[in-house]
Amino acid sequence: MPISFDSEKRIFKLDTKNSSYIMQVFEENYLIHLYYGAYIPDNSVEDLAFRRGNASFSATNETIGEGFFNVDSWPMEYSCNGAGDMRVSALAIRNRWGNSVTDVRYVDYKIFKGKPALEGLPALYTMTEDDATTLEIETVDKVTGAKVFLLYTVFENYGAMTRSVRVENASDAVMDLQRVYSTCVEFPTMDYNMHHLYGAWNKERTLVKRHLEHGIQSIASKRGSSSHNHNPFVCLAKDDATEDFGEAFGFNFVYSGNFAADVEVDFNDTTRLIMGINPIDFCWHLEPGEVFTAPEVVMVYSNEGIGGMSRTFHRLYNNHLIRGEWKNKKRPLLINSWEGCFFDFDDEKMVAFAKNAKELGFELLVMDDGWFGKRNDDTCSLGDWYVNEDKLKGGLSSLVKRVNDLGLEFGIWFEPEMISPDSDLYHAHPDWCLQVPDREKSIGRHQYVLDMSRKDVRDCIYDQMAAVLKGNNITYVKWDFNRNLTQAGSALLPPERQHEVFHRFVLGTYELMGRIVNDFPHILLENCSGGGGRFDPGMLYFSPQIWCSDNTDPMERLTIQFGTSMCYPASCVGAHVSANRRTGYETKGNVAMSGTFGYELDPVKLNDEERRIIKRQVKEYHKYYDLIRTGDLYRLILPTENKHRCAWGYVAQDKSEALFTFVTNLRLMNTTFYVRLKGLDPDKYYIDDETDEIHSGALLMNAGLNLSKHSADCGTSYTIYLKEVKN
Ligand code: GLA
Repeated sequence: MPISFDSEKRIFKLDTKNSSYIMQVFEENYLIHLYYGAYIPDNSVEDLAFRRGNASFSATNETIGEGFFNVDSWPMEYSCNGAGDMRVSALAIRNRWGNSVTDVRYVDYKIFKGKPALEGLPALYTMTEDDATTLEIETVDKVTGAKVFLLYTVFENYGAMTRSVRVENASDAVMDLQRVYSTCVEFPTMDYNMHHLYGAWNKERTLVKRHLEHGIQSIASKRGSSSHNHNPFVCLAKDDATEDFGEAFGFNFVYSGNFAADVEVDFNDTTRLIMGINPIDFCWHLEPGEVFTAPEVVMVYSNEGIGGMSRTFHRLYNNHLIRGEWKNKKRPLLINSWEGCFFDFDDEKMVAFAKNAKELGFELLVMDDGWFGKRNDDTCSLGDWYVNEDKLKGGLSSLVKRVNDLGLEFGIWFEPEMISPDSDLYHAHPDWCLQVPDREKSIGRHQYVLDMSRKDVRDCIYDQMAAVLKGNNITYVKWDFNRNLTQAGSALLPPERQHEVFHRFVLGTYELMGRIVNDFPHILLENCSGGGGRFDPGMLYFSPQIWCSDNTDPMERLTIQFGTSMCYPASCVGAHVSANRRTGYETKGNVAMSGTFGYELDPVKLNDEERRIIKRQVKEYHKYYDLIRTGDLYRLILPTENKHRCAWGYVAQDKSEALFTFVTNLRLMNTTFYVRLKGLDPDKYYIDDETDEIHSGALLMNAGLNLSKHSADCGTSYTIYLKEVKN
């Protein structure tokens, strides 16, 4: 059993194939953390919790007595505010008397097969109940009557687990959750680097690392979405860990709104990480009997370096997060109209796109922004989801039919959570957008944000979207989201619930997105947020692909896609070849191939040479489709570590084939270039598709390949496809 309870020692042990996570019910029913790391068979690790000394004037539990245990320095399983633990707290509840002292102690536990759904929230799921095992620990704050359930699910075969928290107001008075983080993990040392993904619009998920220092190091978003600026992902990798060796602990929050991850190193050089909903502008009011469920954090342990951590995330998300008909179904090769014509199109232009796209071998035409209301630029019409017949003569059905008749499927763009002040919807319902009394509403990209906490708002948007999707043969939707939340108040909620708006907004979005996905299961949904501003596991639960970035320059994309690959699989990374960049089509294709692949250009304008290259890429797309989507990623040279070159590969899980890609980012003069490949089977022999040379996996990985003969000009790239030679 992957989860056990030793009732004598009162120790819980959660095992995966490579990791153990151990905690104990200590004196006075404090829950303390003992160990998280490589698998160990036994559980006699009580000594690991002992901490000598105290931080400063540390006060502790009177019954246990001073001089031994204290909550200020011992590793606490779920840290609480105000009762002695002065490090970052995972939980703070304001009670009926107005103070926020919170002190939860162990009561009981349940262990069961499978994994319960989290109400209203995206989460990893199981296909059979043998896929995972769950531990639910009940704790209580005796004074306030808050019951706090700590949920742990172990995905034994993956080296992964999830954690979340449920709080029930089991008292007869109101209480307010001021902070409720989803995980709290303790490490006995500080010899870790914190890797995380920072960025901006056009520069999402850039990998950076910093060594842990005393004090708190945090990443967060308070933009209302997970954001371009920080992804809800942190990896703590041991000082001696590399891409291929050593210990790495990955944390990824399954949530699409404000989040925070705080890592604190204390006086003892011990480390605590907490991750969850950002407590800034969050406070959840609980009436007696009410329950709050916090989203979950996915925790991955790797003792095969950072690369091993990424591969675990990829397999886990491909199998247990991405859902629906499109989970394993081959996705159509698409062309998106945005960069090809922006708002400047009509039905004839779309049909010309489709004709040319068909000739090139594309399978789906996506009509992006600009088809609805009176929208010819970004100043109007969000919220008016009915077709602009001045632009699309004969209406949407006629256009969809013409495109279908040419042999292409049809996709369309929405931005459901937004409203333009210049729209019929806004004129009818000015109170439907987020706002607070007596303050001007900030405007962003000429738009306001709808109050998604309101059911009437969601119903109206759903009805409009459903009418478009029901009335036309649409098989793809791009769901966009192009601004931050400001003045985040709701006209319907009472003052004591206004701090719930940010979270209610996310719950509302999930509800609407869930309705669309459930009612139109045949539709392939692609999320987007000004590129990759909402690229998170929460969105991935609804849409099997997410547009990675508006930056389609392949050289700049390398950094973005490498960062994204830290925890997100290639199967979901929206990547297109576009026309507007200097780099050649060869490299554009090689880079986009490591994502969902598609085109974002005007196909009518392509010259013969470009058409020839694209036709070859279309063949490659089909040839490598399964390998890239289900294979294991090996990063060979990272763009954040080497400014000249970048290289990576996908190796089939059965090691029977592999595709490696090499890009020169910056021109190199007279440089010899050896690369040792990774991930192959040393005992297998592989044939190079292009040269017909045969080498053992051992040679390719130990001696490596001498690639010096290839061009080292800036922007050039090439691939090597290897296939197992069977005797
Ligand atoms: C966002 C998206 C783009 C495009 C435009 C349309 O910026 O990231 O891909 O859809 O909106 O307005």
